[in-house]
Amino acid sequence: MNDEGPGSGGGPPEPPEPVFEEPALEEPVEARPNAQEAVSEDAPETPLPAEEPVAAAPDEPASKEPAPERAPERAPANPPAVPEPQPDDELRITASQAIKPTRAPGIPGAVSAEEEPERRAQVISFANQKGGVAKTTTTLNLAVAFAESGHDVLCIDLDPQGNLTMSQGIDPDKVEQSMFDVLVHHIPIRQVIQEREIDIAVASIDLAGAEIAMSMQIGRERSLEKALAAVTDDYDFVCIDTPPSLGLLTINALTASDKVIVPVQCEYLSMRGLLQLQNTLEMIRENLNPRVEIEGILPTMLDSRTVHAKEAVEILEENFGELVFKSRIRKAIKFAEAPVRGASVLKYDPKGNAADYYRALAQEVLTNGAS
Ligand SMILES: Nc1ncnc2c1ncn2[C@@H]1O[C@H](COP(=O)(O)OP(=O)(O)OP(=O)(O)O)[C@@H](O)[C@H]1O
Ligand SMILES: [Mg+2]
Repeated sequence: MNDEGPGSGGGPPEPPEPVFEEPALEEPVEARPNAQEAVSEDAPETPLPAEEPVAAAPDEPASKEPAPERAPERAPANPPAVPEPQPDDELRITASQAIKPTRAPGIPGAVSAEEEPERRAQVISFANQKGGVAKTTTTLNLAVAFAESGHDVLCIDLDPQGNLTMSQGIDPDKVEQSMFDVLVHHIPIRQVIQEREIDIAVASIDLAGAEIAMSMQIGRERSLEKALAAVTDDYDFVCIDTPPSLGLLTINALTASDKVIVPVQCEYLSMRGLLQLQNTLEMIRENLNPRVEIEGILPTMLDSRTVHAKEAVEILEENFGELVFKSRIRKAIKFAEAPVRGASVLKYDPKGNAADYYRALAQEVLTNGAS
């Protein structure tokens, strides 16, 4: 089943950093309906993010307003960033109100909440370009722990290896339609969702060709985000398993996500890739999805008997502080056994320690405010 081990990945070579450059060709100006919009909110002098104009168009239900995606005002659980009225002068508007398209004329501060309908699901990607660090194991078991605590959960297998699909007892070679068809042929994602312990949108081996196939498409970084829009109201959590690379599939996952959980194996070498991941996230935030942030870094496969592992966790905490989860996922043979039975550890060994590690993690994520 699993090809574990560093650098596994089986997939074809990805086009190196496919995303951020080329699209300057796409109408920098006419896609912006008016000059006012062109200078609005986020970054006055940043070149226009490439595919924004395209992405805004076809699928968005409320698309009367231009480019709604660029305004990061989903009015989420966090306090909305509403411009503060001047206490000494009610009629005065702030600079950002002045250059922003007005949606509620005459009411300073009444800016948010309406445009992009609040989506129900929190979308979480599990990413680390290093292979074999427990991305898939964490995606499945955390998802099942969320489900156990009463949440509706969808998992998405975005890895051509299909390990997540297999670990729910589904053979990726036998599925008729998969995330490949969703991303490349734009079929509705519901058609590839199967009901198991959680709902799972399945992968197949041809997902390996998705990056090449998508690379010619306009809006290729947003294929998943668009597909997901049809189901995000049906779930509390959408958990996306990504391949061990930072190619277009992972870019799609991060672009569609609110949060990223980064499993890290507690070895020095495993931690070095984190900087690269952070750089990628920064580019995603600047160009594609300003709201995505790291929910936490998760020490996995911890063998706390070894000094080395303890030191590695300490180094992690010194460097990333609060971002490191309090929860620890320790080594346990059940994690290797459960996928063979097509089950999570919570189902395979519900009373065991291994299951409790992920229940504790679910509680930590929930109390961190992810729901
Ligand atoms: N806590 C654990 N203790 C022992 N074995 C584990 C643990 N977590 C995961 N494993 C095992 O380690 C191997 C790699 O895990 P997993 O497939 O989840 O990593 P991954 O990051 O998804 O790998 P890839 O990058 O190839 O997709 C699997 O065989 C899995 O069963
Ligand atoms: Mg995996």
